[in-house]
Amino acid sequence: VCIVGSSGAVATTALAGAARMRKWLAPREGMITETAPFQALNLAPINGLVFGGWDARKDDAYVAALEHAVVDRHLLAQVRDELEAIKPWPSVVSPQFIARAMGTNHVVANSFREELAILEQNIEDFKRQHTLERVVIINLASTERYCQVEDVHRTIKAFEAGLDANDPRISPAMKYLYLACKLRVPHVNFTPSLTKIPALEELAVKNGVPIAGEDGKTGQTMIKTVLAPAFAVRQLRVAGWYSTNILGNSDGLVLDDPGSNRTKITSKKGVLDDILGYPVPNHYVRIDYYPPRGDAKEAWDNIDLVGFLGERMQLKVNFLCKDSILAAPLVIDLVRLVDRAKRAGEAGIQRQLSLFFKAPYHTDGEQAVNDLFKQHALLSEWIADVARRTKAKGPRADLVLV
Ligand SMILES: NC(=O)c1ccc[n+]([C@@H]2O[C@H](COP(=O)([O-])OP(=O)(O)OC[C@H]3O[C@@H](n4cnc5c(N)ncnc54)[C@H](O)[C@@H]3O)[C@@H](O)[C@H]2O)c1
Repeated sequence: VCIVGSSGAVATTALAGAARMRKWLAPREGMITETAPFQALNLAPINGLVFGGWDARKDDAYVAALEHAVVDRHLLAQVRDELEAIKPWPSVVSPQFIARAMGTNHVVANSFREELAILEQNIEDFKRQHTLERVVIINLASTERYCQVEDVHRTIKAFEAGLDANDPRISPAMKYLYLACKLRVPHVNFTPSLTKIPALEELAVKNGVPIAGEDGKTGQTMIKTVLAPAFAVRQLRVAGWYSTNILGNSDGLVLDDPGSNRTKITSKKGVLDDILGYPVPNHYVRIDYYPPRGDAKEAWDNIDLVGFLGERMQLKVNFLCKDSILAAPLVIDLVRLVDRAKRAGEAGIQRQLSLFFKAPYHTDGEQAVNDLFKQHALLSEWIADVARRTKAKGPRADLVLV
């Protein structure tokens, strides 16, 4: 598993969790891939996952995890060797896409093509060092500034010409996804940074690469996509939905920048209208950086509802989350599922993984599915389909008892 942003809070929580589970120091809880329906899928075992990655900072995963302070120090100490071994490779960054100073662990190159060649070499070395059969890339890096699809993002030809010309509209997140498509490696974008661009969707299909994104659906938005279908089913009209968050981790610090904040707000705001079937008036979303909280984010929702006889009502939700604790198990689920999707011959957008995302990938003109229950149904159907296809092929030769 090659992680973009391997020294971040979400990444190091996932890494510490995987290492603790491997040593049987932690229960295998919180991941849907550890539940019964997934047993038929022959997923990569947690013990079989090997991690590496890029980060803009130089600290190894142990030093970074201590600083993020999501997992207790004494629990980290029990997997210190495993975490210290994950020393980040120099990353591809761009000050144009992230305003905050981003460490010093950067690839030194003269062109975008040179950068990509260095990243490719990292993956080759990693595979050789650990004798790996397959690789998955997951982006857990800081949120980039808001940007929109432009001509350079529309076709493979335009995008590749843009790479040749070092076009500043091509972001680091897009480069990592392009690399995955080129190397035929499944890719997950857990961040809201723009990667949903026609050029890369086309390349993923052409090269047989499963891709999933954008922006992990972990706390407030997950609850929103559970409540909104209930209001729709009971004909309670939403007259306004005010959502606000405080968080004090380094994700919060990056989101304090207006460019990155806009990317996140756009991703968080998209979910309601399609579930309810009408444009929700007075839908506000705020995120404020509030250092004392660290990773222990707090989210409030005030929902104004209109019912029978036009009577008005209110619902208040207060979620005291742990941001990275909600996100890390999804990271493990996602890498196992995109790897399985690749082995099942899937390519392009993985719609069955929509339940993991705030802004699920979809093609232009297509309506993304945001309702958590419908998303869950999509995944369940896919599991049954893959299990059926696997069964039809007969037992794997290496599993036959002699
Ligand atoms: N925690 C959640 O619940 C949650 C939910 C959905 C999405 N996300 C997204 O996940 C991402 C990570 O969140 P976090 O809390 O771990 O943030 P973080 O700031 O702790 O970690 C991000 C890491 O990415 C590194 N980085 C930045 N640019 C990079 C680049 N171009 N290449 C390689 N590394 C780079 C940074 O140095 C940092 O170590 C953010 O984009 C966040 O919005 C988090």
